[in-house]
Amino acid sequence: MTPKTFKIKSFGCQMNVYDGDRMAELLSQQGLTVTEDTEAADLVVLNTCHIREKAADKAYSDVGRLRREDGSRPLVALAGCVAQAEGAEAKRRSPMIDIVVGPQAYHRLPEMVAQVARGARPVDTDMPAISKFDALPPRRQATPSSFLTIQEGCDKFCTYCVVPYTRGAEISRPWQDIVAEAHELVDGGARELVLLGQNVNAWAYDGRDFADLIRELARIDDLHRIRYTTSHPADMNEALIAAHAEVDKLMPYLHLPVQSGSNRILKAMNRSHTVESYLATLEKMRAVRPGIALSGDFIVGFPGETEQDFEDTLRLVDAVGYASAYSFKYSPRPGTPAATMEDQIPREIMDDRLQRLQARIIEQQLAFNRTKVGRDTQILIERQGRHGMQMIGRSPWLQSVHVETSAVPGDIIDVAIVGAGQNSLTGAELRRVAA
Ligand code: 5AD
Ligand code: SF4
Repeated sequence: MTPKTFKIKSFGCQMNVYDGDRMAELLSQQGLTVTEDTEAADLVVLNTCHIREKAADKAYSDVGRLRREDGSRPLVALAGCVAQAEGAEAKRRSPMIDIVVGPQAYHRLPEMVAQVARGARPVDTDMPAISKFDALPPRRQATPSSFLTIQEGCDKFCTYCVVPYTRGAEISRPWQDIVAEAHELVDGGARELVLLGQNVNAWAYDGRDFADLIRELARIDDLHRIRYTTSHPADMNEALIAAHAEVDKLMPYLHLPVQSGSNRILKAMNRSHTVESYLATLEKMRAVRPGIALSGDFIVGFPGETEQDFEDTLRLVDAVGYASAYSFKYSPRPGTPAATMEDQIPREIMDDRLQRLQARIIEQQLAFNRTKVGRDTQILIERQGRHGMQMIGRSPWLQSVHVETSAVPGDIIDVAIVGAGQNSLTGAELRRVAA
């Protein structure tokens, strides 16, 4: 059967969201129509994540759930990082999977769909030298805040992480391709670009570095805001810090994963930074951008983590004062060095540590949000709120702001912050700045 409609379900990180959008554009260009209704779609693409927990098991049970009450099923493509990790094994484990396509091969999706119509069950987990980006159509649609992948893969090999295996080696997209895509997105209505990469600040191309790229993108008139994620502490160089000082469009927010507050654990994680070097970087950022919102990632229960190591992590959190942070229980990933390390931490201890860490982070997040009450700021309207005239926008510090306004997504308005909760702020409209 040749599919006419499709649905893409993306899980995990922002790069998967970006990849999902690009696959949708590609399939649309081939004449297929997107549908929101999984039950009605002729083709369902599961764009999976492999970073934590029982990712593969979850993906297979998601596949199983695509079977319909009348016994029929859509054409099923397993995409993303589980597809990359499982490869041809996926076809053996589930007869419902027609296509297995890795994150570096999805430009071949239309061709693979055609192969299925001819009775094949194609698998493509190659990481070809020719970039998938070259085979993708131009961007036509954009959201007020749009993702733009500029770098993929990772050469850092942190001992717990599966990314270097699923996304491959670090590759920077060419300068001119990124600039062209940025223009397409802004012409399509984007007012903010979020530059994406597993090690986004390691981007380098033809003698130019990440700070040069940010300065170039900042020259696009109708682009008002630039963000980026995720960065590695070892790649926070002086040029990037200087860009934060000088480029107004670069938002005062930095997500800089640290993972642990214990140098012993950081070493076992192969993180190539120390607690001291991390804090020194944040110090420099605060010096050039006072009030910058700082965010991080933490893993609790890495093999060998003692109560003392964990308390060092709490101490680091206290020293930083995060605006937000993400914390995870260590999850052994097959094939990574940490998975076979001795002294794996029991689940109860991980649960307890995660709870204590998250309680500390939530306190800090609320405290940060409260510092905005009584202040005026600009927000970019992103979407409709729950009722009536309520819209939801983002502050420069990436907080969600609820506001009653007639402004529409893509507008930038001045608001007075009148309330703060743990996860969002409430604003009162002052005036329209840009549309
Ligand atoms: N277990 C738990 N958390 C992990 N992360 C990456 N790999 C693992 C793992 N095996 C977390 C890190 C990273 C974020 C994207 O996911 O904190 O920064
Ligand atoms: Fe994974 Fe470490 Fe690379 Fe981040 S820097 S993607 S945690 S290996």
